[in-house]
Amino acid sequence: MNVSNFNLTKYRDRIVAIDGPAGSGKSTTARMVAAKLNYSFLDTGAMYRAVTHFALTNSIDPSDGNALALISEKLDIRFETDEEINRVFIGDEEITEQIRTPEVTKTVSEISAHLGVRQAMVVKQQKIGKNGSVVAEGRDTTTVVFPDADVKIFLNASVKQRAQRRLIELAKAGVSTSIEEQIADLERRDEYDSGRKHSPLKKAKDAYVIDTSECTIEEQVERVLTIFKSVFS
Ligand code: DC
Repeated sequence: MNVSNFNLTKYRDRIVAIDGPAGSGKSTTARMVAAKLNYSFLDTGAMYRAVTHFALTNSIDPSDGNALALISEKLDIRFETDEEINRVFIGDEEITEQIRTPEVTKTVSEISAHLGVRQAMVVKQQKIGKNGSVVAEGRDTTTVVFPDADVKIFLNASVKQRAQRRLIELAKAGVSTSIEEQIADLERRDEYDSGRKHSPLKKAKDAYVIDTSECTIEEQVERVLTIFKSVFS
């Protein structure tokens, strides 16, 4: 097959899974790749953030794994996505902005480490992906959620570069912070996410690694699409 004539949208029903540490550009890349392929975008981190937002606004103790597991099973988390934005809802209530607050970001690692929470989320994620045509992103999408994904990608970037990106994102959202604070926060989250007992962040053996330190988002998207094409050529 001639790769330059490759019709991206011809390949329906496949699953692309993208993993990597916080700030590696997973979300934006996955959302844009999904738009190019005309696939749905599944932001698994947003689901853990939705549970965290719900827990914080309902005064549920982040260490109470049993209560959080029950909530996770019951919460109706929905997405409405286009090329620009991934809108997140609990039922009819939009929580797109609320799940990105520093408070949610600080608490989500602890909440997502509970086994019962993870099991409930994985069930929901696999249901969303059951008919394929999905680009899924998040810490365990290539290893636990979709271990048989057709294309697996592990995005990585230096901590400094990732902190720089976060700084820009947060500034756009009106949050003022420093590079030092962001580096410290990312290092803390990397350590927590990689060292936790259930589904730690790790690269799947058959994942393609893309170092995004020197890449623009457009280049990252292009690299993922090139891998996608090569897998089906
Ligand atoms: O990618 P993110 O920053 O939105 O993810 C938020 C948190 O959720 C992050 O600390 C790790 C956790 N997470 C997870 O445990 N498993 C996933 N599949 C996705 C995210």
